[in-house]
Amino acid sequence: MPAKPKFYLTTPIYYTNGLPHIGHTYTTVVADVIRRYKRMRGYEVVMTTGTDEHGVNVERAAKKAGVPESEFVAKMADAWRALWNELGLPAEEFVRTTDLRHVRTVQWLFKLFRENGYVYKGHYTGQYCIYDNAFVNDAKPGDNCPDCGRPTETLTEENYFFKLSAFQKPLLDLYKKNPDFIQPESRKNEIVSFVEGGLKDLSITRTTLRWGIPVPGEEPHVFYVWFDALTAYLSAVGGPDYEKRGMWPADLHLVGKDIIRFHTVYWPAFLMAAMLPIPKQVWAHGWFLMDASKMSKSKGNVVLPRPIANMLGMDALRYYMLRETVFGQDGNFSYDALVTSYNANLANGLGNLSSRTLTMIQQYCGGRIPKPTDSHVKSTILNLAFTQELGMIVGNNDLGEVGDYNTLNFSGVLQHIERLISNVDGYLVQQKPWAMAKDDAKVQDLANVLYDAAEALRIITILIHPIMPESTEKIWKQLGQPGKLDEERIDKLAWGQLKSGTEIGTVTAVYPRIDHQEAIERIESMANEELNPTAPPALAPTAAPSIAAGAAAATAPAASEKIGIEDFAKVEMRVGQIKTAERIVGADKLLKLTVDIGTEIRQICAGIAQFYEPDSLIGRKVAVVTNLAPRKLRGVESNGMIIAASVGPEGRPVLAGFLEDVEVGARLK
Ligand code: MSP
Repeated sequence: MPAKPKFYLTTPIYYTNGLPHIGHTYTTVVADVIRRYKRMRGYEVVMTTGTDEHGVNVERAAKKAGVPESEFVAKMADAWRALWNELGLPAEEFVRTTDLRHVRTVQWLFKLFRENGYVYKGHYTGQYCIYDNAFVNDAKPGDNCPDCGRPTETLTEENYFFKLSAFQKPLLDLYKKNPDFIQPESRKNEIVSFVEGGLKDLSITRTTLRWGIPVPGEEPHVFYVWFDALTAYLSAVGGPDYEKRGMWPADLHLVGKDIIRFHTVYWPAFLMAAMLPIPKQVWAHGWFLMDASKMSKSKGNVVLPRPIANMLGMDALRYYMLRETVFGQDGNFSYDALVTSYNANLANGLGNLSSRTLTMIQQYCGGRIPKPTDSHVKSTILNLAFTQELGMIVGNNDLGEVGDYNTLNFSGVLQHIERLISNVDGYLVQQKPWAMAKDDAKVQDLANVLYDAAEALRIITILIHPIMPESTEKIWKQLGQPGKLDEERIDKLAWGQLKSGTEIGTVTAVYPRIDHQEAIERIESMANEELNPTAPPALAPTAAPSIAAGAAAATAPAASEKIGIEDFAKVEMRVGQIKTAERIVGADKLLKLTVDIGTEIRQICAGIAQFYEPDSLIGRKVAVVTNLAPRKLRGVESNGMIIAASVGPEGRPVLAGFLEDVEVGARLK
């Protein structure tokens, strides 16, 4: 079998002085979409992300936290990695700039510069903040430090310089020979004129910074953070031994517009100086703005990904980000638009198509994909519509079509898919399979129409899979399709491949409709909890299953430690009776209960949804802790806690109850 073609793509490596917000999530999501798409076209793909851990900001943040830098960055790197995993965005390579493999690569690259005559020792003079121990870029004598506001001083330090000036012509040649190297076009013009304006040599070591990669034999010199950071792309795939891994050069570096110069000027110049292969393309996307300004922690306008993923699912966030913003341009983020997009495009659009099609197959065709006539498959109007749109989405070389996925026009991809969905909806309304089902003479017509709808659903599910990987797997199973969806070849799709006779799976709503206002309030409330953790973290229902309801996670005293009766008496417990019970959208472990505790009816959330059917709980008497401070769980207020035993290694909750009838409101002592 011939080897697969390779594709290597990267996200920027993120600073470790904060945690991801949806701006960072955007870059990583786009990389993930491209990775999945390329894989579905038969490529061997490696995606790299990671953390940029050196520099004065980390030095400061570690100092503030009162821990050594190495400990600080290790924790942050773990948190970034864990969040990407939680959001379904794990990369093949997660590179940290404190990794030994990376340190070796940086030092090796510098050695090549030296051997090839591209570095020299010189002096750098600039404005320096003695309080922050850092040069202030672009400051003039007399300027204050933008960070601490105190006066800067003019300082000269010894540095190694990289002969960037020698690369003006080679860079301009590179841009000319590879017109697609910088994307989008508008950014390319900006970079070309910057380089045409002349390049100054670049200082690539520092002696005023301590937390960095040492220059071997030249201590106290450490490498400049950007030289260090850019090299991570190469360290991740073999560093000095990159040829063995076979992934370098990168096919695509995805970056935000703020860091394009580093990637399209410095980085290729560094690689040229070391005589290493140059990446094929750098794509700069725009920013996600909140109220027209860039998100930042200091402005207090950051949007976090986790609460959104909890409430609507990560796929809803992916859909919204890619559909509403033209890739390359800035986009505005709003919860309102996000939830509107969810209800319109997912609950009503794809979700509705999926459940109505599958329900009809269940009801009218005995739960098996019906058999259409051969002539119908060829001539159906949907076949024509789909074949045409397919070319526009994934490209069709025979017709010379480019394909929106290939040009990273994700908004275009989704618009085509939306059009397909409404085509199918319109077709169903016109054909009325529900009426055909009542007419014995129309059995074959019914089979033809429902086959069409199911085939359309299969193709749409494959086409949208790179953008919505999690939920499409569910639709795939409901359609009764064998094998893994991500192993389907997106470039070999054709109408009529769906097999008749296949038994479909259990039909459930993949994107349940949600109340607009409630969704926003709950997302905001979860975000607020994450940003301002006042109490100990909310108890994840699985984390301490001995109590079924959410409440602040108290650290239990060691088994041997005894408490006095006065401590026990502080806990008020009463007999309660469950009045209502319902599932909570976006929280598959929690049930929302209303419980009569004698004096009032309370709303309590309990982490028992995986073990108790809501209906089976109505009327049941339970033991309730009634004097707990209220808390929000997944954004839903919980006013008390239901007691349960925790059974087995998984901590299955079993509700505590009473063998004799007891009065509601009676106190437990
Ligand atoms: N560490 C450097 C990159 C080194 S790459 C060799 C860095 N880190 S960063 O964490 O500040 O930013 C990483 C990426 O996140 C950048 O591409 C930046 O554009 C992107 N974003 C940060 N905020 C953003 C938005 N609000 N919207 C979209 N992307 C944004 O720069």
